[in-house]
Amino acid sequence: MKTMKRRPGMVMAGLATGLLLAAGGAGAQGAKVKVGFMLPYTGTYAALGNAIENGFRLYVQEQGGKLGGRELEYFKVDDESEPAKATDNVNKLVKRDQVDVLVGTVHSGVALGMAKVARETKTLMINPNAGADAVTGAMCAPNIFRTSFSNWQPGYAMGKVMAEKGHKRAVTLTWKYAAGDESVGGFREGFEAGGGKVQKDLTVPFPNVEFQALLTEIASLKPDAVYVFFAGGGAVKFVKDYAAAGLNKTIPLYGAGFLTDGTLEAQGDAAQGLLTTLHYADGLTNAKEKTFRAGYMAAYKAEPDVYAMQGYDAGQLLGAGLAAVKGDVKNQAPLIAAMEKATIDSPRGPFTMSKAHNPVQDIYLRKVEGKQNKVVNVAIKGLADPARGCKM
Ligand code: PHB
Repeated sequence: MKTMKRRPGMVMAGLATGLLLAAGGAGAQGAKVKVGFMLPYTGTYAALGNAIENGFRLYVQEQGGKLGGRELEYFKVDDESEPAKATDNVNKLVKRDQVDVLVGTVHSGVALGMAKVARETKTLMINPNAGADAVTGAMCAPNIFRTSFSNWQPGYAMGKVMAEKGHKRAVTLTWKYAAGDESVGGFREGFEAGGGKVQKDLTVPFPNVEFQALLTEIASLKPDAVYVFFAGGGAVKFVKDYAAAGLNKTIPLYGAGFLTDGTLEAQGDAAQGLLTTLHYADGLTNAKEKTFRAGYMAAYKAEPDVYAMQGYDAGQLLGAGLAAVKGDVKNQAPLIAAMEKATIDSPRGPFTMSKAHNPVQDIYLRKVEGKQNKVVNVAIKGLADPARGCKM
């Protein structure tokens, strides 16, 4: 290099690079906002990841492909619901692709790894599903938001519902990882506050679906009721196995609503009548739900589920932030302030952000009827996660 003479062309190239860099900086209307989807596109949660991306893209399309006046450019990483790969995967988006915003993920263990990197690099992160309590608890940060739920929220609501139904002794069953443990933790809190007692906690490693030994144990424990956390492909298998073992005739099964969301087509008869709690349901009558459902059907020829809705709302939340800074995604303080203040007109019903950046929202009791999770009532109105350990 040192012996090379500068040719005019090189100067031009240097100038062009400088201009490009300037265009990527503050307030640039030309450059696209880089959105990095880190989601499971394979494995037991693959359908969930796809629904989230579909929902997000639908909202952006409805806005003419722009948020805050800027076009979006998408980058994608399949996180495989594999916590051990979370740091490497999130760094592909943050360091290699240099995204402005991370959107992800589904699996709580992966989300914890993502949130750590987002915190350290101050990359804006919108979590459109994973419920890991710590994401808006001990790990809370100004640049981290969630448009879904904390694992505690639906669990706590179901504990309350089951106690009110007069169940006294319950067995819990879940995959052994953060989401399952915390969902059961919320359930225990609500159930025991209502006078119930958890007789035994059963677990199976994620994402195993060999349930027979556990079903045999439940049959011999004879609890009044069973509370479970399963989702995606595993939820399909569990609900079918529970019915095939005949347990649905003797011991009522309840769960966080993921048990029956996006799964009813595959679960068929085995799911009929199941009661679950979630921040979404079929049969809601708000105006946004109607346009969302129609738009999603038109775009993807499929009914939306809770995951699609959470992805759509991640788009809405980012839109609220970018509108406030006219697309200048690097102008983080006012962008974050706008996201904190936003009331999201969600298909679930309007919601706001807690101080820890988790939705304060109604949790519905739903009942499976045919292919629908029909809303029964509001189990708890305006439920906020306790955000334990969040200092913000
Ligand atoms: C989670 O890991 O937090 C999780 C995964 C799937 C769900 C809900 C929560 O449906």
